[in-house]
Amino acid sequence: MGIVDRLVLLMVRISPRFVIRWVSRRYIAGVDIDAASRTIRRLQSQGCCATLDVLGEEIQSIDEVSFFESEYQMALQRIIDDDLDANLSIKPTAFGLLIDEVYAREKITALTAAAGDHHIHVRLDMEDHRVTDGTIRILKHIQEAGYSNIGIVLQGRLFRTAEDIQSLTEELGAYADFRICKGIYLEPAEIAHTGHAQIVDATCEAIDAALAAGAYVGIATHDDKIVESTRKSLSRHGLGPSYEDKRKNAPPSRKGKGPGYEYQMLLGVRGELRRALVAEGHRVRIYIPYGKQWYEYSMRRLRENPTIARHILKAFFLPWKNRP
Ligand code: FDA
Repeated sequence: MGIVDRLVLLMVRISPRFVIRWVSRRYIAGVDIDAASRTIRRLQSQGCCATLDVLGEEIQSIDEVSFFESEYQMALQRIIDDDLDANLSIKPTAFGLLIDEVYAREKITALTAAAGDHHIHVRLDMEDHRVTDGTIRILKHIQEAGYSNIGIVLQGRLFRTAEDIQSLTEELGAYADFRICKGIYLEPAEIAHTGHAQIVDATCEAIDAALAAGAYVGIATHDDKIVESTRKSLSRHGLGPSYEDKRKNAPPSRKGKGPGYEYQMLLGVRGELRRALVAEGHRVRIYIPYGKQWYEYSMRRLRENPTIARHILKAFFLPWKNRP
């Protein structure tokens, strides 16, 4: 971590709670599902769709799962009632993955089944390397149980990602559905790229490999280099905003998804890129975190990857142009 990042991080750490709240308002829809629904409707009017994330994860006791279970059920019901173009993103540790994997798996299966009744997709966010295998096991279990409305996140920075793409696309065939991002967790050099250029290259390669394998790909980035590289990948694989997915290894129908791919961005980040991608006709999904645990979420993100603090500080001095 560079000296500037250390200084910025220190400033953020000693900032009073109200300052963190003021800054985080840009990245978090609000404390409840009403605020999240309002944000999604604004985004929809600007041509975007969404994925909902209830803030909080890595619980200490299995009893805490019931909170996330009922919050996600409420979110699902609201998507249905308000007819929102949205799906769900969940953190397996919030459902107890690190405490009791079988319990977590059953709870996530039940949620996926309920979402599947309404053709709503569920995405397993990927947390740090302690849970990569467990998260993949849960994905496979749920797919084997017959629910295809579930996908996973793979992180470009991890060395294992190329192999995961290959084995998962072989196993899941037409139902392989990945969000590919750089990965927010700073992982050890034994298992992950640590240099910025290598992470960018590996992420671009992972996106290209997943597209080549016929998977549905959520391209989750705000990085111009990755966006440019994926434009080339998309055209190489015959994909684009309004084309049909003609890849031979892709399924005939995507049920409301984009034509084989979509761009995904975080709420409050790079509004001008979001608007440009929508104007070009791409499907753009915005990740909407909401919930009472906004302070813990904000501080955790900064601890996990302090370069975010620099982005936030930069954004602090910019006009309010990233929110819908
Ligand atoms: P990079 O960080 O280089 O950002 C590019 C530019 O975007 C910056 O220069 C800056 O201008 C702007 N920017 C980025 N972040 C900003 C911020 N917070 N505030 C202000 N400006 C900002 N990771 C993971 O490990 N598991 C997961 O499940 C997910 N899920 C996920 C979903 C979605 C929809 C997205 C977009 C990202 C994730 N991530 C994630 C996070 C991801 O791995 C990665 O850490 C971030 O997206 C940052 O990487 P970028 O490719 O955006 O580049």
